[in-house]
Amino acid sequence: MKIGGPVIAVDGPAAAGKGTLARQLAEVLKLPYLDTGLLYRAVTWKVLEAGSKPTDPAETFARALTIEDTRRSGLRSPEVTQAVSNVAAQPAVREALIDIQRHFASIHGGVLDGRDIGTVIFPEADVKFFITASLPTRALRRFLQMGGDMTASDASEKLHIIEDSLKSRDHIDTNRKNAPLCQAHDAYVIETDAMDAASVLSEALRIVRERLNTCPKVT
Ligand code: CDP
Repeated sequence: MKIGGPVIAVDGPAAAGKGTLARQLAEVLKLPYLDTGLLYRAVTWKVLEAGSKPTDPAETFARALTIEDTRRSGLRSPEVTQAVSNVAAQPAVREALIDIQRHFASIHGGVLDGRDIGTVIFPEADVKFFITASLPTRALRRFLQMGGDMTASDASEKLHIIEDSLKSRDHIDTNRKNAPLCQAHDAYVIETDAMDAASVLSEALRIVRERLNTCPKVT
């Protein structure tokens, strides 16, 4: 497939900071941005709305999905978050969502974040990142992202619940047979535990410049 711009793949486990990085990279490089997790979340939303279980065949919902469906509210609800990895583990669902992802970047290129962008969706991506961080760091970030207050009396209980939920999703995502979460052999790995979002962006931009041999300006 001939693509009219660079494709940048940003993969990694939940809450590692890949969404923040991918969004910022897209803005700086003036490329379209797709959070592919929202595609799986939108299919899951339809599954739950229909009263089906996450393990019930969901290919029909995936085949009917459009990018507009990812703009629906409620895709980050606890119910969807709890069910999404089981829906995403279905090979037929993944197969049905390949075209929509490839088509998204087919005209201008794009920055896509997910789990299998550099390995399955765009194995020929111009630049691949694998963004990761330890489980406690990721749980803390998700807690704060959700408006959590570290001084609240139930903070540590809530952190544990988030940690368990991330661990369980990581387990399903990493161990599924089809397109598991894994690092592409040619991905740049960025461990973000000791880095803030600005440092991750600046390191990623340095790599993008080196790979694409261009000088995108940080505004
Ligand atoms: O934002 P967060 O890290 O919580 O997750 P997400 O990117 O919204 O993805 C939600 C779920 O969708 C993941 O846990 C995976 O099960 C699935 N997913 C996937 O299988 N492949 C992708 N390319 C993106 C997401």
